[in-house]
Amino acid sequence: MKVFITGSAGFIGFHLARRLLGEGHTVFGLDSFSPYYDVNLKRRRHAMLAAESAFSATECALEDRARVTEAVAAFEPDVVVHLAAQAGVRASIDDPLGFVSTNVTGTMHLLEAMRTHRPQHVVMASSSSVYGTGSGVPRRESESTDIPISPYAATKKAAEVLSHSHAHLFGIPVTCLRIFTAYGPWGRPDMALLKFIGAIEAASPIDIYGRGAMKRDFTFVDDLVESIRRLIDVVPGQARVSALDSLSPVAPWRVVNIGNGSPVGLLDFVETIERAMGRKAVETYLDMQPGDATDTWADIALLEELTGYRPATSLAEGVERTVRWYRDQRG
Ligand SMILES: NC(=O)c1ccc[n+]([C@@H]2O[C@H](COP(=O)([O-])OP(=O)(O)OC[C@H]3O[C@@H](n4cnc5c(N)ncnc54)[C@H](O)[C@@H]3O)[C@@H](O)[C@H]2O)c1
Repeated sequence: MKVFITGSAGFIGFHLARRLLGEGHTVFGLDSFSPYYDVNLKRRRHAMLAAESAFSATECALEDRARVTEAVAAFEPDVVVHLAAQAGVRASIDDPLGFVSTNVTGTMHLLEAMRTHRPQHVVMASSSSVYGTGSGVPRRESESTDIPISPYAATKKAAEVLSHSHAHLFGIPVTCLRIFTAYGPWGRPDMALLKFIGAIEAASPIDIYGRGAMKRDFTFVDDLVESIRRLIDVVPGQARVSALDSLSPVAPWRVVNIGNGSPVGLLDFVETIERAMGRKAVETYLDMQPGDATDTWADIALLEELTGYRPATSLAEGVERTVRWYRDQRG
Protein backbone atom coordinates (compact mmCIF):
# COMPACT_ATOMS: atom_id res chain seq x y z
CA MET A 1 0.00 0.00 0.00
CA LYS A 2 0.99 3.62 -0.53
CA VAL A 3 0.00 5.46 2.63
CA PHE A 4 0.01 9.26 2.93
CA ILE A 5 0.24 10.29 6.60
CA THR A 6 -0.28 13.87 7.74
CA GLY A 7 1.29 14.63 11.12
CA SER A 8 3.99 12.01 10.51
CA ALA A 9 6.42 13.76 12.88
CA GLY A 10 3.80 13.71 15.62
CA PHE A 11 3.43 11.14 18.37
CA ILE A 12 0.79 8.92 16.75
CA GLY A 13 1.86 9.53 13.14
CA PHE A 14 5.43 8.47 13.92
CA HIS A 15 4.33 5.20 15.55
CA LEU A 16 1.88 4.40 12.77
CA ALA A 17 4.46 5.15 10.06
CA ARG A 18 6.98 2.85 11.78
CA ARG A 19 4.43 0.07 11.88
CA LEU A 20 3.49 0.44 8.21
CA LEU A 21 7.12 0.65 7.08
CA GLY A 22 7.84 -2.49 9.11
CA GLU A 23 5.12 -4.27 7.14
CA GLY A 24 6.75 -3.24 3.85
CA HIS A 25 4.36 -0.45 2.85
CA THR A 26 5.44 2.83 1.24
CA VAL A 27 4.80 5.87 3.40
CA PHE A 28 4.77 9.57 2.54
CA GLY A 29 4.71 11.98 5.47
CA LEU A 30 3.51 15.58 5.62
CA ASP A 31 4.21 17.69 8.69
CA SER A 32 4.81 21.39 9.39
CA PHE A 33 6.92 20.75 12.54
CA SER A 34 4.69 23.17 14.39
CA PRO A 35 6.31 24.73 17.47
CA TYR A 36 3.46 23.70 19.83
CA TYR A 37 5.95 21.45 21.64
CA ASP A 38 9.66 20.58 21.29
CA VAL A 39 10.42 20.61 17.56
CA ASN A 40 13.61 18.59 18.17
CA LEU A 41 11.50 15.67 19.34
CA LYS A 42 9.54 15.85 16.07
CA ARG A 43 12.79 16.03 14.08
CA ARG A 44 14.20 13.01 15.93
CA ARG A 45 11.07 11.00 15.20
CA HIS A 46 11.21 11.94 11.50
CA ALA A 47 14.94 11.15 11.30
CA MET A 48 14.16 7.60 12.47
CA LEU A 49 11.53 7.23 9.77
CA ALA A 50 13.86 8.69 7.14
CA ALA A 51 16.29 5.81 7.78
CA GLU A 52 13.82 3.63 5.84
CA SER A 53 14.06 3.85 2.05
CA ALA A 54 10.29 3.42 1.71
CA PHE A 55 9.72 6.68 3.60
CA SER A 56 9.69 10.13 2.03
CA ALA A 57 8.23 13.36 3.33
CA THR A 58 7.56 17.03 2.86
CA GLU A 59 7.70 19.83 5.39
CA CYS A 60 4.46 21.61 4.67
CA ALA A 61 1.55 23.21 6.51
CA LEU A 62 -2.00 22.06 5.81
CA GLU A 63 -2.83 25.73 5.30
CA ASP A 64 -0.71 25.73 2.11
CA ARG A 65 -3.40 24.45 -0.20
CA ALA A 66 -1.30 24.37 -3.39
CA ARG A 67 1.45 22.27 -1.79
CA VAL A 68 -1.00 19.90 -0.08
CA THR A 69 -2.76 19.33 -3.42
CA GLU A 70 0.56 18.84 -5.19
CA ALA A 71 1.81 16.35 -2.58
CA VAL A 72 -1.34 14.21 -2.80
CA ALA A 73 -1.30 14.29 -6.62
CA ALA A 74 2.38 13.36 -6.84
CA PHE A 75 2.20 10.44 -4.36
CA GLU A 76 -1.19 9.04 -5.53
CA PRO A 77 -1.93 7.36 -2.19
CA ASP A 78 -4.04 4.24 -1.75
CA VAL A 79 -4.78 5.30 1.81
CA VAL A 80 -4.63 8.71 3.54
CA VAL A 81 -4.28 8.82 7.33
CA HIS A 82 -4.92 12.38 8.46
CA LEU A 83 -3.41 12.98 11.90
CA ALA A 84 -1.93 16.49 11.58
CA ALA A 85 -3.74 18.93 13.82
CA GLN A 86 -3.30 21.54 16.43
CA ALA A 87 -3.99 19.54 19.56
CA GLY A 88 -4.56 20.61 23.14
CA VAL A 89 -7.72 21.86 24.80
CA ARG A 90 -6.06 24.68 26.72
CA ALA A 91 -4.06 26.02 23.75
CA SER A 92 -7.29 26.16 21.74
CA ILE A 93 -8.84 28.57 24.23
CA ASP A 94 -5.91 30.96 23.70
CA ASP A 95 -5.82 30.63 19.91
CA PRO A 96 -9.18 29.43 18.52
CA LEU A 97 -8.53 30.94 15.08
CA GLY A 98 -5.25 29.04 14.75
CA PHE A 99 -7.12 25.83 15.54
CA VAL A 100 -9.78 26.60 12.93
CA SER A 101 -7.10 27.36 10.38
CA THR A 102 -5.31 24.00 10.82
CA ASN A 103 -8.04 21.63 11.93
CA VAL A 104 -10.90 22.92 9.78
CA THR A 105 -9.48 24.83 6.79
CA GLY A 106 -6.40 22.57 6.64
CA THR A 107 -8.57 19.45 6.73
CA MET A 108 -10.71 20.88 3.94
CA HIS A 109 -7.59 21.50 1.82
CA LEU A 110 -6.71 17.84 2.21
CA LEU A 111 -10.27 16.67 1.43
CA GLU A 112 -10.34 18.89 -1.65
CA ALA A 113 -7.03 17.43 -2.83
CA MET A 114 -8.70 14.02 -2.74
CA ARG A 115 -11.55 15.02 -5.05
CA THR A 116 -9.32 14.52 -8.06
CA HIS A 117 -6.94 11.91 -6.60
CA ARG A 118 -9.29 9.59 -4.77
CA PRO A 119 -7.73 7.14 -2.34
CA GLN A 120 -9.46 3.88 -1.40
CA HIS A 121 -9.82 4.99 2.21
CA VAL A 122 -9.29 8.10 4.33
CA VAL A 123 -8.75 7.49 8.04
CA MET A 124 -8.71 10.65 10.12
CA ALA A 125 -8.19 11.50 13.75
CA SER A 126 -11.06 12.95 15.66
CA SER A 127 -11.09 12.99 19.45
CA SER A 128 -12.99 11.80 22.50
CA SER A 129 -13.37 15.50 23.28
CA VAL A 130 -16.28 15.70 20.80
CA TYR A 131 -18.39 13.97 23.46
CA GLY A 132 -18.21 17.04 25.71
CA THR A 133 -18.05 16.54 29.41
CA GLY A 134 -18.48 13.21 31.19
CA SER A 135 -21.73 11.42 31.86
CA GLY A 136 -20.29 8.58 33.98
CA VAL A 137 -21.12 5.99 31.32
CA PRO A 138 -19.14 4.74 28.31
CA ARG A 139 -19.63 6.93 25.27
CA ARG A 140 -21.07 5.37 22.11
CA GLU A 141 -20.47 6.56 18.58
CA SER A 142 -24.23 6.84 17.96
CA GLU A 143 -24.86 9.42 20.68
CA SER A 144 -25.14 13.16 20.11
CA THR A 145 -21.91 15.14 19.94
CA ASP A 146 -23.45 18.59 19.70
CA ILE A 147 -22.06 19.88 23.00
CA PRO A 148 -18.32 20.58 22.53
CA ILE A 149 -16.84 22.50 25.48
CA SER A 150 -13.61 23.79 23.89
CA PRO A 151 -12.59 25.23 20.50
CA TYR A 152 -10.38 22.13 20.06
CA ALA A 153 -13.39 19.82 20.43
CA ALA A 154 -15.49 22.01 18.15
CA THR A 155 -12.84 21.94 15.38
CA LYS A 156 -12.57 18.13 15.64
CA LYS A 157 -16.34 17.83 15.31
CA ALA A 158 -16.29 20.26 12.36
CA ALA A 159 -13.66 18.12 10.62
CA GLU A 160 -15.81 15.02 11.15
CA VAL A 161 -18.85 16.59 9.53
CA LEU A 162 -16.86 18.14 6.66
CA SER A 163 -15.43 14.72 5.88
CA HIS A 164 -18.98 13.36 5.86
CA SER A 165 -20.15 15.76 3.17
CA HIS A 166 -17.14 14.92 0.97
CA ALA A 167 -17.70 11.19 1.54
CA HIS A 168 -21.30 11.68 0.43
CA LEU A 169 -20.71 13.96 -2.54
CA PHE A 170 -17.59 12.35 -3.98
CA GLY A 171 -17.82 8.75 -2.75
CA ILE A 172 -14.58 8.97 -0.72
CA PRO A 173 -14.73 6.34 2.07
CA VAL A 174 -13.85 7.95 5.42
CA THR A 175 -13.35 6.53 8.91
CA CYS A 176 -13.09 9.09 11.73
CA LEU A 177 -11.27 7.89 14.85
CA ARG A 178 -12.45 9.21 18.20
CA ILE A 179 -9.21 8.70 20.07
CA PHE A 180 -9.21 8.59 23.89
CA THR A 181 -6.02 9.94 25.60
CA ALA A 182 -3.06 8.22 23.94
CA TYR A 183 0.22 7.73 25.81
CA GLY A 184 3.47 5.83 25.45
CA PRO A 185 7.14 6.10 24.43
CA TRP A 186 7.94 9.07 22.15
CA GLY A 187 4.83 10.70 23.62
CA ARG A 188 3.82 14.32 23.80
CA PRO A 189 5.61 16.45 26.39
CA ASP A 190 2.51 18.67 26.72
CA MET A 191 0.37 15.77 28.01
CA ALA A 192 -0.01 14.65 31.63
CA LEU A 193 2.08 11.47 31.61
CA LEU A 194 5.32 12.96 30.32
CA LYS A 195 4.81 16.17 32.27
CA PHE A 196 4.39 14.11 35.46
CA ILE A 197 7.34 11.80 34.74
CA GLY A 198 9.61 14.80 34.10
CA ALA A 199 8.48 16.60 37.27
CA ILE A 200 8.75 13.50 39.49
CA GLU A 201 12.24 12.79 38.17
CA ALA A 202 13.22 16.41 38.98
CA ALA A 203 11.40 16.29 42.36
CA SER A 204 9.25 19.23 41.23
CA PRO A 205 5.54 19.51 42.09
CA ILE A 206 2.89 18.20 39.69
CA ASP A 207 -0.41 20.02 39.09
CA ILE A 208 -3.48 17.89 39.85
CA TYR A 209 -6.43 19.59 38.16
CA GLY A 210 -10.00 19.04 39.25
CA ARG A 211 -8.48 18.25 42.69
CA GLY A 212 -7.97 14.68 41.45
CA ALA A 213 -11.63 14.03 40.61
CA MET A 214 -11.04 13.63 36.84
CA LYS A 215 -11.02 10.26 35.07
CA ARG A 216 -9.46 9.36 31.75
CA ASP A 217 -9.70 6.36 29.47
CA PHE A 218 -6.00 5.93 28.56
CA THR A 219 -4.97 4.19 25.32
CA PHE A 220 -1.46 2.76 25.03
CA VAL A 221 0.05 3.85 21.72
CA ASP A 222 0.79 0.29 20.49
CA ASP A 223 -2.88 -0.61 21.03
CA LEU A 224 -3.92 2.55 19.21
CA VAL A 225 -1.64 1.76 16.26
CA GLU A 226 -2.93 -1.83 16.13
CA SER A 227 -6.50 -0.47 16.04
CA ILE A 228 -5.72 2.06 13.29
CA ARG A 229 -3.85 -0.56 11.27
CA ARG A 230 -6.82 -2.92 11.37
CA LEU A 231 -9.33 -0.16 10.63
CA ILE A 232 -7.37 0.84 7.50
CA ASP A 233 -8.52 -2.49 6.04
CA VAL A 234 -12.17 -2.00 7.08
CA VAL A 235 -13.35 0.37 4.36
CA PRO A 236 -16.85 1.76 4.99
CA GLY A 237 -19.21 0.57 2.25
CA GLN A 238 -22.96 0.47 1.76
CA ALA A 239 -23.99 -1.97 4.50
CA ARG A 240 -23.94 -1.62 8.26
CA VAL A 241 -22.11 -4.44 10.01
CA SER A 242 -24.55 -4.54 12.93
CA ALA A 243 -26.97 -2.52 15.02
CA LEU A 244 -23.96 -0.85 16.68
CA ASP A 245 -22.51 0.45 13.43
CA SER A 246 -22.20 4.22 13.08
CA LEU A 247 -22.15 3.99 9.26
CA SER A 248 -23.85 6.99 7.67
CA PRO A 249 -27.17 6.24 5.94
CA VAL A 250 -26.06 8.28 2.90
CA ALA A 251 -22.27 7.97 2.62
CA PRO A 252 -19.35 5.51 3.00
CA TRP A 253 -18.45 7.13 6.34
CA ARG A 254 -18.31 6.05 9.97
CA VAL A 255 -16.84 7.08 13.32
CA VAL A 256 -15.13 4.61 15.64
CA ASN A 257 -14.02 5.04 19.26
CA ILE A 258 -10.51 3.91 20.13
CA GLY A 259 -9.92 3.65 23.86
CA ASN A 260 -9.17 1.09 26.50
CA GLY A 261 -12.73 0.92 27.78
CA SER A 262 -11.66 1.38 31.41
CA PRO A 263 -11.38 4.88 32.87
CA VAL A 264 -8.78 5.56 35.56
CA GLY A 265 -8.98 8.25 38.25
CA LEU A 266 -6.27 10.89 38.17
CA LEU A 267 -4.94 9.93 41.63
CA ASP A 268 -4.70 6.24 40.63
CA PHE A 269 -2.87 7.38 37.50
CA VAL A 270 -0.34 9.29 39.64
CA GLU A 271 0.13 6.26 41.93
CA THR A 272 0.78 4.06 38.89
CA ILE A 273 3.50 6.46 37.74
CA GLU A 274 5.00 6.60 41.26
CA ARG A 275 5.20 2.79 41.36
CA ALA A 276 6.81 2.62 37.91
CA MET A 277 9.37 5.29 38.88
CA GLY A 278 10.00 4.14 42.43
CA ARG A 279 9.53 7.74 43.59
CA LYS A 280 6.80 9.80 45.20
CA ALA A 281 5.20 12.81 43.53
CA VAL A 282 4.82 16.20 45.17
CA GLU A 283 1.23 17.17 44.40
CA THR A 284 -0.36 20.60 44.00
CA TYR A 285 -4.17 20.43 43.92
CA LEU A 286 -5.90 22.86 41.56
CA ASP A 287 -9.44 23.47 40.27
CA MET A 288 -10.67 22.12 36.95
CA GLN A 289 -9.42 24.04 33.95
CA PRO A 290 -12.00 25.52 31.58
CA GLY A 291 -12.63 23.33 28.53
CA ASP A 292 -11.54 20.07 30.22
CA ALA A 293 -13.93 17.11 30.42
CA THR A 294 -14.40 15.68 33.92
CA ASP A 295 -14.25 12.14 32.65
CA THR A 296 -13.82 10.18 29.43
CA TRP A 297 -14.83 6.58 28.91
CA ALA A 298 -14.95 4.76 25.57
CA ASP A 299 -17.42 2.11 24.56
CA ILE A 300 -15.17 0.03 22.30
CA ALA A 301 -17.70 -2.57 21.16
CA LEU A 302 -17.81 -1.19 17.59
CA LEU A 303 -14.00 -1.24 17.29
CA GLU A 304 -14.01 -4.86 18.41
CA GLU A 305 -16.83 -5.77 16.07
CA LEU A 306 -15.12 -4.18 13.05
CA THR A 307 -11.59 -5.41 13.74
CA GLY A 308 -11.83 -8.37 16.15
CA TYR A 309 -9.43 -6.43 18.38
CA ARG A 310 -9.77 -4.86 21.84
CA PRO A 311 -7.00 -2.69 23.30
CA ALA A 312 -5.83 -4.46 26.43
CA THR A 313 -2.47 -3.11 27.62
CA SER A 314 -2.86 -2.32 31.30
CA LEU A 315 -2.04 1.18 32.48
CA ALA A 316 0.68 -0.25 34.76
CA GLU A 317 2.44 -1.93 31.83
CA GLY A 318 2.05 1.03 29.48
CA VAL A 319 3.36 3.48 32.09
CA GLU A 320 6.32 1.21 32.93
CA ARG A 321 7.27 1.05 29.25
CA THR A 322 7.01 4.81 28.94
CA VAL A 323 9.14 5.43 32.04
CA ARG A 324 11.77 2.99 30.73
CA TRP A 325 11.86 4.83 27.38
CA TYR A 326 12.09 8.21 29.15
CA ARG A 327 15.04 7.10 31.26
CA ASP A 328 16.83 5.29 28.38
CA GLN A 329 16.75 8.31 26.10
CA ARG A 330 17.99 10.60 28.87
CA GLY A 331 20.94 8.25 29.37
N1 LIG B 1 -2.57 12.05 21.61
C1 LIG B 1 -3.85 11.97 22.01
O1 LIG B 1 -4.13 11.60 23.17
C2 LIG B 1 -4.99 12.29 21.08
C3 LIG B 1 -6.30 12.14 21.56
C4 LIG B 1 -7.35 12.46 20.71
C5 LIG B 1 -7.13 12.86 19.41
N2 LIG B 1 -5.84 13.00 18.97
C6 LIG B 1 -5.63 13.46 17.58
O2 LIG B 1 -4.71 12.59 16.96
C7 LIG B 1 -3.91 13.31 16.02
C8 LIG B 1 -2.43 13.09 16.31
O3 LIG B 1 -2.17 13.51 17.65
P1 LIG B 1 -0.74 13.42 18.30
O4 LIG B 1 -0.93 13.14 19.73
O5 LIG B 1 0.16 12.57 17.48
O6 LIG B 1 -0.31 14.96 18.20
P2 LIG B 1 1.08 15.62 17.75
O7 LIG B 1 0.94 17.08 18.07
O8 LIG B 1 2.21 14.87 18.34
O9 LIG B 1 1.07 15.41 16.19
C9 LIG B 1 0.43 16.28 15.29
C10 LIG B 1 1.43 16.66 14.20
O10 LIG B 1 0.76 17.56 13.30
C11 LIG B 1 1.70 18.56 12.93
N3 LIG B 1 0.97 19.78 12.59
C12 LIG B 1 0.38 20.68 13.43
N4 LIG B 1 -0.15 21.68 12.74
C13 LIG B 1 0.10 21.42 11.42
C14 LIG B 1 -0.20 22.11 10.22
N5 LIG B 1 -0.84 23.28 10.24
N6 LIG B 1 0.18 21.54 9.07
C15 LIG B 1 0.85 20.37 9.03
N7 LIG B 1 1.19 19.68 10.16
C16 LIG B 1 0.80 20.20 11.33
C17 LIG B 1 2.57 18.78 14.15
O11 LIG B 1 3.85 19.34 13.80
C18 LIG B 1 2.67 17.39 14.74
O12 LIG B 1 3.85 16.73 14.35
C19 LIG B 1 -4.37 14.76 16.14
O13 LIG B 1 -5.32 14.99 15.11
C20 LIG B 1 -5.03 14.85 17.49
O14 LIG B 1 -6.01 15.86 17.52
C21 LIG B 1 -4.76 12.73 19.78
